Amino acid sequence: MCGIVAYIGNKNAYPIIVKGLKRLEYRGYDSAGLALLNGDLNIYKIKGKVSQLEAFAADKDLRGSIGIGHTRWATHGEPNDINAHPHLSDNGRLAIIHNGIIENSDSLKKLLTRDGHTFTSETDTEVLVQFIGSVQQKYNLPIEEAVRQALGSVIGAYAIVLIDKEDPTKIVAARKGSPLVVGVGDSEFFLASDATPIVEYTKKMIYLNDEEIVIMDRDNLEIKTIANIPKKPEIQEVELAVDELEKGGYEHFMLKEIYQQGQTIADAMRGRMSHIESWVKMGGMEEYEEKFRKAKRLIIVACGTSWHAGLVAEYLFEDLARVPVEVEYASEFRYRNPILTEEDIVIAISQSGETADTLAALELARSKGALIYGVVNVVGSSISRLTHAGSYIHAGPEIGVASTKAFTGQLSIFTLMALYLANAKGTISRTYFQKLLNELTIIPGKIEEILKQNDQIKYIAAEIKNSNNAIYLGRGFNFPIALEGALKLKEISYIHAEGYPAAEMKHGPIALIDEKMPVIVIATNKNAYEKVVSNVQEIKARKGIVVSIVAKGDEQISRLSDYTIEIPPTEDPLAPLLSVIPLQLLSYHIAVMRQCNVDQPRNLAKSVTVE
Ligand code: M6R
Repeated sequence: MCGIVAYIGNKNAYPIIVKGLKRLEYRGYDSAGLALLNGDLNIYKIKGKVSQLEAFAADKDLRGSIGIGHTRWATHGEPNDINAHPHLSDNGRLAIIHNGIIENSDSLKKLLTRDGHTFTSETDTEVLVQFIGSVQQKYNLPIEEAVRQALGSVIGAYAIVLIDKEDPTKIVAARKGSPLVVGVGDSEFFLASDATPIVEYTKKMIYLNDEEIVIMDRDNLEIKTIANIPKKPEIQEVELAVDELEKGGYEHFMLKEIYQQGQTIADAMRGRMSHIESWVKMGGMEEYEEKFRKAKRLIIVACGTSWHAGLVAEYLFEDLARVPVEVEYASEFRYRNPILTEEDIVIAISQSGETADTLAALELARSKGALIYGVVNVVGSSISRLTHAGSYIHAGPEIGVASTKAFTGQLSIFTLMALYLANAKGTISRTYFQKLLNELTIIPGKIEEILKQNDQIKYIAAEIKNSNNAIYLGRGFNFPIALEGALKLKEISYIHAEGYPAAEMKHGPIALIDEKMPVIVIATNKNAYEKVVSNVQEIKARKGIVVSIVAKGDEQISRLSDYTIEIPPTEDPLAPLLSVIPLQLLSYHIAVMRQCNVDQPRNLAKSVTVE
């Protein structure tokens, strides 16, 4: 969603802002803009990509060592040049960029209109800057005081950055519910929605907390709350290398991230297990082991692909650690008055750690006294800072909007968490525990084997790329993978796809099957294999096109299928780690063949920071 980059220092701000906005393109956006202060306040903004903004600005005045830049993902008002940020107060003094939604913008707008203010855009952001401007004018306040006093009357979520034409030595920013990071340089400061635009200049970051305002000139920085309480800036060193933000020779970030998974799964498990010494250690769980052992229920909250990881976790925890699990869409959990007791543990899963629905669900769970645990990728993100404990998945930056390596990282963590708990509770035999550890150790190698079948998968992609619909079927541990395969296909290739438990097909979806319908059957399970054979026969009897994912050596389902992808056999609880890989590649190739924008699919945002 909206991306923010700002700079104050001795350098020219424009190239830093444009490069930073390009780094944030992965978040998803539909227009871009920037404002530069150099005596004048120059604003350039345009519907479209950052490269279009660059072309538009090329012959303009680009001087200025203070600047703010923005990529907008439309909420209030369609994507166009006028609704793009920055927005200006109607006295031409303040410029603002904003990520989030101002919920009381309608009532603020009515008040402002009554006082004679006029608006050029349809955005809540313009309302906000007019409101701050009116407070500034009325009480003759410096920008930081105007921002602070105005925010006391603002309802909603925001990360905002402002500059003032009449006070051209400062940047003022604030956050509530939307992320904002400050980069601390040498006589210069950076601001961004996440660390990616900043790391090439400095590794020193300050993660702003909700309701904090930061005021900075070239040399100094001050943080206070909206309630005017001074805060000591806490500087953290971020471990993020610039080459992690590049495609590294791959055609797309998504392909790079698919190919990284052998490594990222190994990274997720490093230091957390040993098959030689037969142990699993989960630092975050250790402190709360007693609580985990006694938990009556685990409640998992997440969205999208992370929710699918939650479904796999349900199978893992119930099968191995014998604890009941509920998996909830974070957005639904929050608004249905959930029943929570102190014996429940709420686990949030999030790649970005910034998903607004998941954050809100966690805040609710925390307010009701539940222990909250995070399984998160982005270090220092809002969810990771809100939870009592958690496990990072250490997958590195995931830039492609379609989640791939974060998903298998999440699965790796949940496998280890379930094994840790099963061991602590004594619900797993030593032999099976050891067997799963041995098998986990060789999963990265098995992923490399699957990736070698890329050409075969590409061939199948070419065969089904013109379909309008697809069905994905799986059973047991592979059921969530059917959902994930369908999500991957629809989000990047725009083909309508649905995932179902294989046995559910005959309760409805079978009506859709004809000779044009590809049905992707994930059939690597040892459990219920014969049942899946029957399902495949039912599809073939109706002339559906069967693409099966089977364990190497399989004969029955392969013989019935039109196309088969063989993957190395493994234990059922670990099957999702392997079976999802060919589905990711299949979606990727289909999307490329359909000339879709694989890394930045239409309408989607990487980090969904509005509810
Ligand atoms: O950052 P999160 O894991 O919280 O994001 C949740 C979803 O928005 C995300 O998984 C989304 O569904 C992806 N586009 C899936 O590829």
